[in-house]
Amino acid sequence: MAIQRIYAVYFSATGTTEKVVCSIANQIGAALKVSVQTINFTLPGARKEHHTFKKGDVVIFGTPVYAGRIPNILLPYIQGSFTGNDALAIPVVLYGNRNYDDALIELRNVLFENGFIPVAGAAFIGEHSFSKTLAANRPDAQDMAIAERFTAQIVEKIQNLIATPIEPVLVNGSDPIRPRYIPRDLQGNPVNILEVKPKTNDTCVKCGLCVEVCPMGSIDSADPSNVPRACIKCCACVKKCPTAAKYNDDEKFLEHRHVLEKGYARRAEPELFL
Ligand SMILES: Cc1cc2nc3c(=O)[nH]c(=O)nc-3n(C[C@H](O)[C@H](O)[C@H](O)COP(=O)(O)O)c2cc1C
Ligand code: SF4
Ligand code: SF4
Repeated sequence: MAIQRIYAVYFSATGTTEKVVCSIANQIGAALKVSVQTINFTLPGARKEHHTFKKGDVVIFGTPVYAGRIPNILLPYIQGSFTGNDALAIPVVLYGNRNYDDALIELRNVLFENGFIPVAGAAFIGEHSFSKTLAANRPDAQDMAIAERFTAQIVEKIQNLIATPIEPVLVNGSDPIRPRYIPRDLQGNPVNILEVKPKTNDTCVKCGLCVEVCPMGSIDSADPSNVPRACIKCCACVKKCPTAAKYNDDEKFLEHRHVLEKGYARRAEPELFL
């Protein structure tokens, strides 16, 4: 099948989704000799745009997994603002070594409902937003080598397509989609961390980086220690602060992080669907 345009489309608060999506897109672009365009909808200003694609486009579309699903703040935007018109799509989700549950099948379904044809899909592992040790530094070289081999197979599949497929690629997950994963404490009781917001210690130099990177636009530019609006716990501000001034000290949040770090320390491997 002739491909005219390739897009890397993603939300990525701490950069793991961006790394895998852009790598796949750039490799497909190089193989098919088509330049790659990027749509990064991480920041609130970018989530005002509508994007329309067409037959002959390949769209590598990535989101992180939040509570086993597409992040709930993104779902209405993705459902309402991307029109496929028979463009080929590759849904990709990044998860923090626990599980991706129904995130990939949910993303595949939303893209298909929007007129994309998902021809491949993948769940990769990224350092957990809440932690410095859970899946630390992933996706790493081993993951990226897997992504490279997978992308070579995608290129072959696209080149051998003689017509637009009717059915989307089969991926793991439950359909109907299950409810979101509920965070637990050490005793296995549900914990509610919805209202938790990062705090700021006195090493803050007021550089404003956290204000710029917050996907919710929730940090006060006049006083970066103040988070007056909603926080999705993406931890972009915590991980990107140059002086490590941002931190979470909520007891329930820390207990849930401990549960994750203890219970999901094994190395999960990427899952690929073609
Ligand atoms: C609110 C929230 C919920 C999360 N839920 C899950 C989850 O259910 N399973 C999992 O393995 N990782 C989960 N994670 C971790 C992220 O999926 C993971 O760190 C991902 O690589 C982050 O992507 P990014 O770097 O593109 O922001 C969650 C992270 C956040 C912030
Ligand atoms: S990124 Fe860190 S140092 Fe810079 S304003 Fe935010 S909290 Fe302060
Ligand atoms: S304030 Fe909340 S939503 Fe904004 S960057 Fe920090 S963790 Fe993410």
